[in-house]
Amino acid sequence: MIEAIDRGAGSNRSSGARSLIALRGVSRIHDGGAIAALRNVDLQIREGDCVAVVGASGSGKSSLINILCGIDYPTSGHVVWEGRPIRKKSDWVWLRRLRIGVVFQEFNLIPTLTALENVELALLGRGMSAKHRYTRAGMVLGRVGLDHRPHHLVTRLSGGERQRVAIARAIVSEPKLLLADEPTGNLDSISAVKIADLLFHLHEMTGMTLVLVTHDDALAARCSRQIRLRDGAVVDDTLQALLSGTVAPRSKI
Ligand SMILES: Nc1ncnc2c1ncn2[C@@H]1O[C@H](COP(=O)(O)OP(=O)(O)OP(=O)(O)O)[C@@H](O)[C@H]1O
Ligand SMILES: [Mg+2]
Repeated sequence: MIEAIDRGAGSNRSSGARSLIALRGVSRIHDGGAIAALRNVDLQIREGDCVAVVGASGSGKSSLINILCGIDYPTSGHVVWEGRPIRKKSDWVWLRRLRIGVVFQEFNLIPTLTALENVELALLGRGMSAKHRYTRAGMVLGRVGLDHRPHHLVTRLSGGERQRVAIARAIVSEPKLLLADEPTGNLDSISAVKIADLLFHLHEMTGMTLVLVTHDDALAARCSRQIRLRDGAVVDDTLQALLSGTVAPRSKI
């Protein structure tokens, strides 16, 4: 089981930071080989990294996120969590419940539930009392700046507020890894900046590893590491460039 992982196995000797999640030779092929969404991707995300994933539409960014959270599986290659290959669906379920939070562009909230209920739902099946779940969900809504709207149906909230609910839902289990696939893509520019600020604040305050897909160069530049995809392949990774000595260090790497 993943709980039994030898945490030392994820060490990254070259950088000193531990590997949290890695892809090893991952390809994702569709339509019997006609489409390669990802091609032989090798990638290591370290604990505490703040990574922007950029690239043109169709370059494979969402495919990468889906494989990093186990809602899709590689056609070949595998994913490694803290040094251990993840092969079983049950391990992915455990990881998504306790270790990996995901935020999508379209929020993906349950429209018939309130903000509080959407967040509380993520705590079901954990042996917590209903009272404890609601208290915790309310606390996390406060953390994302939504403590004044807990009982609103999410359909009555603005786009920025909905994304805050989605972020609260993603972080309520205090995951080690937060994946965000264009979290500001459906928002006006002011809400987008506020949501980006919130994500970076959470990363700074908790040390949570953040992987952020974005089309926004300014947003990508706020991350300490940038990965660029083209036609399903990683064509640029500022960390690899730094480790191989081809670029000067940036302040946060
Ligand atoms: N289920 C699928 N079946 C067939 N092709 C798919 C499927 N999912 C993704 N693709 C294809 O894989 C490629 C990568 O898609 P992906 O959604 O990962 O791109 P993206 O970089 O996230 O694009 P965007 O910036 O528009 O969101 C695209 O050509 C897409 O059409
Ligand atoms: Mg996408």
